[in-house]
Amino acid sequence: MKSFPYQISNLEEYHQAYQKSIKQPAQFWEEIAQNFIWKKKWDSVSEWNFKDPKIEWFKGAQLNITENCLDRHLNKFGDQAAIIWEPNNPNEQNRVLTYNDLYKQVCQFSHVLKNNGVKKGDTVCIYMGMIPELAIAVLSCARIGAIHSVVFGGFSAQSISDRLHDAKSEFVITCDGAFRGQKNIPLKSVIDEALISCPFVKRVIVYSRTQIPLNMIEGRDTWWEEEIKKIETKNCNIFEAEVMEAEDPLFILYTSGSTGKPKGVVHSTAGYMIYTNYTFINTFQYQTNDIFFCTADIGWITGHSYLLYGPLSAGATTVLFEGIPTWPNASRLWDIIDKFKINTLYTAPTAIRSLMSYGLEPLKGKDLSSLKVLGTVGEPINEEAWHWYNTNIGKNKCPIVDTWWQTETGGILISNLAGITPAIPSFATLPMPGIVPCLIDENGKEIEENNVSGNLCIKQAWPSIIRTTFGDHERCRKTYFSTYENKYYTGDGAFRDANGNYRITGRVDDVLNVSGHRIGTAEIENAINQHKGVIESAVVGYPHDIKGQGIYAYIIYNKNIDDVIALNNNITQTVSNIIGPFAKLDKIQFVNGLPKTRSGKIMRRILRKIAENDLNNLGDTTTLLDPNVVNEIKNGRI
Ligand code: WTA
Repeated sequence: MKSFPYQISNLEEYHQAYQKSIKQPAQFWEEIAQNFIWKKKWDSVSEWNFKDPKIEWFKGAQLNITENCLDRHLNKFGDQAAIIWEPNNPNEQNRVLTYNDLYKQVCQFSHVLKNNGVKKGDTVCIYMGMIPELAIAVLSCARIGAIHSVVFGGFSAQSISDRLHDAKSEFVITCDGAFRGQKNIPLKSVIDEALISCPFVKRVIVYSRTQIPLNMIEGRDTWWEEEIKKIETKNCNIFEAEVMEAEDPLFILYTSGSTGKPKGVVHSTAGYMIYTNYTFINTFQYQTNDIFFCTADIGWITGHSYLLYGPLSAGATTVLFEGIPTWPNASRLWDIIDKFKINTLYTAPTAIRSLMSYGLEPLKGKDLSSLKVLGTVGEPINEEAWHWYNTNIGKNKCPIVDTWWQTETGGILISNLAGITPAIPSFATLPMPGIVPCLIDENGKEIEENNVSGNLCIKQAWPSIIRTTFGDHERCRKTYFSTYENKYYTGDGAFRDANGNYRITGRVDDVLNVSGHRIGTAEIENAINQHKGVIESAVVGYPHDIKGQGIYAYIIYNKNIDDVIALNNNITQTVSNIIGPFAKLDKIQFVNGLPKTRSGKIMRRILRKIAENDLNNLGDTTTLLDPNVVNEIKNGRI
């Protein structure tokens, strides 16, 4: 029997579902939506145009996503683990939160938020490590109708301050610190620094995880545990979920683009819930009682959709791991899989490549026989890594799903379905039901044939598509809906084979994908340029064995350089201070000039070729203002 009536269980059903989703989208999604808990049903399934853009799904409906992720499971799965938390240090006790536990703790913390003045529609910034309280904070925001804006723990004070200003957040939830591998990251002190420029922040709730000494500011800062104690004495273990409209924003998540500062991608409630649930169940072929392990941080979209909302809305057990795959050693993930008998592992190609570099020794004595399905996300997977994953982790018996999607898409758009539709190494393969991809050529025309490459666009709205960029709808229109008329523009290039399978080839804009993390070249250049003495810089990506892409910076510096290593370190530190420690410059080359066109535009194509060491294919350099700089840069290549 099917665990879910809308679970696709063979190839023919996939084709049927796909055809129906395109020909009768309203009927298709309505049938799926019937399986959820609504406070009021919808008046219309979808209304959208890509011109404004204006996109609405399940308009008129009312719901609360946490009733679908928690309340509705209590009868059947109340005692089943909702979250298994594995701490950074393998010697520390893990924690298991059943659905009953999670429900109670979310209700309690919802009271805490309310007591601290958080109201429906407020934006709440969450800056925490990977602990169950992060999940509780996120779900509690959703329960009271506040919009969560989770900021990854690797971002700097400056980045947090920018996001607090942009989202106008008056509330922050954080920890004293976070453990990650060998590091003890002082989150609260980063928040303190960020808040110097954010006097509008009224309340900071601090969970104590690392017990490092802190400076608590009276009237502004309060301890999570003390707030919970107040609730417990009143025995407030139930919190009536706020009534939300289908299109009320659920969260903001900042992501990098090719220009300017990161933008706040806004997702709304009903469509996001339906689509993440549908894609979770179908892509991974989730079966009741399966244990699902997504290694992504909740600070990124993958953590939002496939560590929290997708699995919890399906009543699954989701594993939340505080640490990193290589600490205390490169067996860490395999030990976790054996410890909890995990059935599905969903991780990034960069993690696979990094673990591959340790050889097979860390796999000795590891069983891994509980695994049924493997997945990858975040960047193209090279064939070598795919085969290593398949042979050594999946033992040739676990289908690998290569899931392509973006922060803006909310959920998986192109992927094989585990064991149902064929996998092809390095191909994301076929679109999910409801998704109509197309390829556009350099003249802006759609390419109808197969065996072609082009810019990847999507022609129809799906339930979890981006609704707006917070506070700046025009930016959303310009970035995603104005490049090609009536199409959502992804910024990715793709190849389509003779059978309609898609292979994602990478970004075609100035966005880098470093270890599966998106960073805009403009963002890095702005940071470098703030370093004293830097006149100008240009940043490009180059192939990196483990990270997928590395960051190569060309910098014009106005003084004599006495100590190159010290200057490299200082500039790297500046970038780390402005963006965050994860934005690390891999190579820095000091140059006297940059290749520019007569109109002053930097020819990045040339810089990219030099960084890739493809020196004989620089293309036409005659249009450059000063063609000589190219030779100088070539000769000084790092
Ligand atoms: C890239 C992550 C190839 C792509 C979910 C996209 C991929 C960007 C894949 C979005 C994949 C993601 N194969 N490339 N399976 N998945 N990408 O917003 O360039 O952090 O545009 O969302 O990652 O990154 P984001």
